[in-house]
Amino acid sequence: MSSKHHQLVSAGEPGMDRRLFMSSAIGMAAGAAMLPASAQDSGSGLGPPPGASLQMGGAPNGPKLFRVESDIKDVEVDGKIPEDLNGAFYRVGPDPQYPLRPGNIPFDGEGHVSMFRIKNGRVDYKTRFVRNDRYLAQEKAGRILFPMYRNPTVDDPSVKGLSRSTANTHIINHRNYLLALKEDSPPAAMNLLTLETVHPNYTFDGQLKSATFTAHPKVDSDTGDIVAFGYEATGFGSNDVNIFQITPQGKMVWEAWIKVPYVSLLHDFAVTDKHIIFYVMPLAFDEEQIKRGGVHWSWQKGKGTYFGVMRRGGDGKDLRWFKGPDRSSTHVMGAFSDGERVYVDVEMSEYNPFPFMPFADGSKWDPVKGASQITRLSADLSKKSPRDYKIEVLYPGYFGALPRQDDRYNTKPYRIGYVPCPHPNPADRSKRPNACWARFDHQTRKATLFDAGPGTTLYEAIFVPKNKTAPEGVGYLLGVATRQNEGGRGDLLILDAEHIEEGPIATVKLPIRAVPQIHGWWVPEDQLTST
Ligand SMILES: [Fe+2]
Repeated sequence: MSSKHHQLVSAGEPGMDRRLFMSSAIGMAAGAAMLPASAQDSGSGLGPPPGASLQMGGAPNGPKLFRVESDIKDVEVDGKIPEDLNGAFYRVGPDPQYPLRPGNIPFDGEGHVSMFRIKNGRVDYKTRFVRNDRYLAQEKAGRILFPMYRNPTVDDPSVKGLSRSTANTHIINHRNYLLALKEDSPPAAMNLLTLETVHPNYTFDGQLKSATFTAHPKVDSDTGDIVAFGYEATGFGSNDVNIFQITPQGKMVWEAWIKVPYVSLLHDFAVTDKHIIFYVMPLAFDEEQIKRGGVHWSWQKGKGTYFGVMRRGGDGKDLRWFKGPDRSSTHVMGAFSDGERVYVDVEMSEYNPFPFMPFADGSKWDPVKGASQITRLSADLSKKSPRDYKIEVLYPGYFGALPRQDDRYNTKPYRIGYVPCPHPNPADRSKRPNACWARFDHQTRKATLFDAGPGTTLYEAIFVPKNKTAPEGVGYLLGVATRQNEGGRGDLLILDAEHIEEGPIATVKLPIRAVPQIHGWWVPEDQLTST
């Protein structure tokens, strides 16, 4: 890397700007580039009204629903698609079939998958809903049948026993399938090229014992195996977690069962070459709220956090929990083991990062406490009695969520990470939430910034290596930009991942809004054509 190409941005001052913090936290909450600027910048401290955001596809004053399934051939491109960039960029997010009920939250809504198929310098765009049990039942009924986020007690009686999966959170490829993931259910399997739903409840040929499957499996850096888990694994509200490893050929080669100290949003986890790490936090299962017809979770102040570490390949009985103060951490950037020390880099906020998630004590949401920063958690397993885990903010002044890394390093020591964020400049940051992608170099502790400019918000970005053997971070950064001043029209931006400050190499210009996104995934050409 030549330093002349790098405009190193020093961390901005960590001043307390309530609107910035609110924007940052909402950004995390919703995957949020799609949030209307008016909602993000309302200054109310409470964020957008529940259900008023994700489905709008980025249009500041657009309709409540989007629902447009698209096939666009040879999308217009500014610049030149790199010759070595061939494959497909997939995205998924909630796009409700029907308007969300009052009190529901933007995490609900049916999964809509989009694909940018990139080959030989051309790009085709295709989107399809995940046609799983829930989608088909509602389509047949012509109305919403699952009215509240992860609360089956208020479902329409006609869907009792049916999978409640929205399949709206993340997607990965496995064998010859694209798996659409929602953490309360098994995946839905789709055809990689047609996006047809072929297995609405994919259980890995019956090997999946857990009732659920995480939205954040990891790919073992050495074997290519999927390491994944399911929480509430033996039923709704259960404290059982099932962890397992599946080969690229689809054989489950290891599993273990553990229990968590209390049932919380176990959205992501960390896997190293030696260890598996969970983080239990006070966004916890709320049985009383569920009985009242509310959502699955509430922020339950004072429950504390538990950083749990166990060895891979064992039976889980070595699991140790390190206690800590109330904090929230939803996503992992990367993790590694160094002897008996484990390190996990996460997005972390002081408390509930989601303005629409209720507080058990009735508190109003505070955007300052809800803002996330990239934070390193660590624990020393050589100590005999469990003690606190350590907390270190890596880049003070940068606030953002939805971190990613070069996914070839999921289970290895890594150096580079990426995250959507507002500009760290205090004068700029409150006005333009999620206007930037930051590239963090953990070796130098320097940040490099791509600023998308006024009127644009950015979704999560993903890294694509130039080729299979390219060094870490050598390749492209891909993500969708929402043009707020053009009715929320979407552009796919392709950047040189080593020089993101130079802006896009190519811009793929959709004539319409992109469907909402929480997470995205890249599948290289050889894995597409072998299907
Ligand atoms: Fe996620």
